[in-house]
Amino acid sequence: MCISKENKFIKNARIGSYEEKYRPQFHYSPAKNWMNDPNGLVYYEGEYHLFYQHTVNSTSPDFPRMHWGHAVSKDLVHWEELPPAITPGEDGAIFSGSAVADMNNTSGFFNEEGSGLVAIYTNEGNQAQPGKPQVQSLSYSRDQGRTWTRFEGNPVLLPASETADFRDPKVFWHEESSKWVMALAARDRIEFYTSEDLRAWSFASEFGSTVPFVHRGVFECPDIFQVPVDNDPNNKKWVLSLSVGDLNGGNMSDPQPPAGGSGMMYFIGHFDGQSFISDKIIESIHDIQWIDFGSDFYAAVTWNGIPKEDGRVIWIGWMNNWRYANKLPSLEWRGNMSLPREIQLRTCLGGLRLIQLPVKELSKLRNPMSTLTDLVIKPGDNLLSEVTALKAEIIAEFEIGTAIEFGFKLRKSSSQETIIGYDVVNEALFLDRTNAGSADFHPDFAAKHTVTLKPEHKRIQVTIYVDGSNIELFGNEGIAVITDLVFPEPESQGLELYAVGGSVKVISLQISDMTGLWVRE
Ligand code: FRU
Repeated sequence: MCISKENKFIKNARIGSYEEKYRPQFHYSPAKNWMNDPNGLVYYEGEYHLFYQHTVNSTSPDFPRMHWGHAVSKDLVHWEELPPAITPGEDGAIFSGSAVADMNNTSGFFNEEGSGLVAIYTNEGNQAQPGKPQVQSLSYSRDQGRTWTRFEGNPVLLPASETADFRDPKVFWHEESSKWVMALAARDRIEFYTSEDLRAWSFASEFGSTVPFVHRGVFECPDIFQVPVDNDPNNKKWVLSLSVGDLNGGNMSDPQPPAGGSGMMYFIGHFDGQSFISDKIIESIHDIQWIDFGSDFYAAVTWNGIPKEDGRVIWIGWMNNWRYANKLPSLEWRGNMSLPREIQLRTCLGGLRLIQLPVKELSKLRNPMSTLTDLVIKPGDNLLSEVTALKAEIIAEFEIGTAIEFGFKLRKSSSQETIIGYDVVNEALFLDRTNAGSADFHPDFAAKHTVTLKPEHKRIQVTIYVDGSNIELFGNEGIAVITDLVFPEPESQGLELYAVGGSVKVISLQISDMTGLWVRE
């Protein structure tokens, strides 16, 4: 059965105005309606595909009618929205999953073409067997992801026993064992399966059920990928990342993610194609490594198929939190992606840490507005009173002086501001959105989010993206990250550089306006 034949290769470059209140301009959001998790991230024949959880007729999630929305990009920063790719049917809704480029036709779906795309996703509400509503299914595409055909042998994987949580397959090609590997979230554990043809799957191992302090919410959207340590291609480690849902019948004495609600954690270790072994034994809640210290980075997964010559590990996340996702005040659409981020591992004082850096391609969108160097800021100064920042990149390096706190006030008006500051005494970077704008849709929204960040050679470096209704903050070259939504009035555009209780030296500051990502033809 062919799922979406219409609009083959349609150029659908501008299907919305993208000018609505709160609409981000260089973060991807669908023209209309609801969006959550990124799905099926794959690079194939010159295009990055971004599929995503999409409800096509409502700004609220309609779980029984969940589709895979679709967008493509040639450079990771300009995106074109295409018609929804995989639509729900008698086999259930199309929940999260992944896509692979089957270059050697291991699946047998591409006998004429030689290669093609295979999507592996969860059918939710499937009736194949009672008590097993979540099963894994395949669809394949012979035309670069424009149309998809369901595999008649679906489902390809069912849970061994009755359970409501068995989902979000992330499949990749494991070179060393020459097999496809699937990481799958099964309530309190990640299960690994292997396959030679994407159709038949064998259970290999599980990770997580006995790890303490990680079971507050159900596990979702796992990923496992190899990353060079300190940029050394000869020394790579495996990273297992997973999302933890909000208040989902888990162990309420286990800690929440740092900013509450749903969030993401990671483990560094070894994977042999069958089992994952974490380097670190989790002995206390302090051993848990969180990926983001803001509220709004969830379900991130990495792109499959990035060419070896490129070699980067790149992911994108849904900028939201299940605690209030359905209540956000945007009207025409609801939900957007983060910027694509490159992942690295860096050796730090406390051991190996995951680093996230906005992809270098973002420089294509950059229009420099102000550049300052070697300035001393004292309380009461605001060198940026003439600068506005509605869709901007701010890159700054400070040298700690006598100020006890310094930073930026963004999206500022007489009644609103979002503060990004560094607390010198507590060595903490923070984003304070208590007075950022609309927040009455959920009692937990107005909050200050903090992450420990030690100065390096007395310096603090920040890269900030501010865009419509969202902010991404990367501290000291991506070692500390805070991702947060904010809903200021469009008139709140001011910017302030501030210092409290003494002075701080600005080594360098570059502010750029960012061009929008919409492909216009
Ligand atoms: C994560 C998630 C997934 C599920 C999807 C449904 O945000 O709950 O586990 O597949 O969203 O839209």
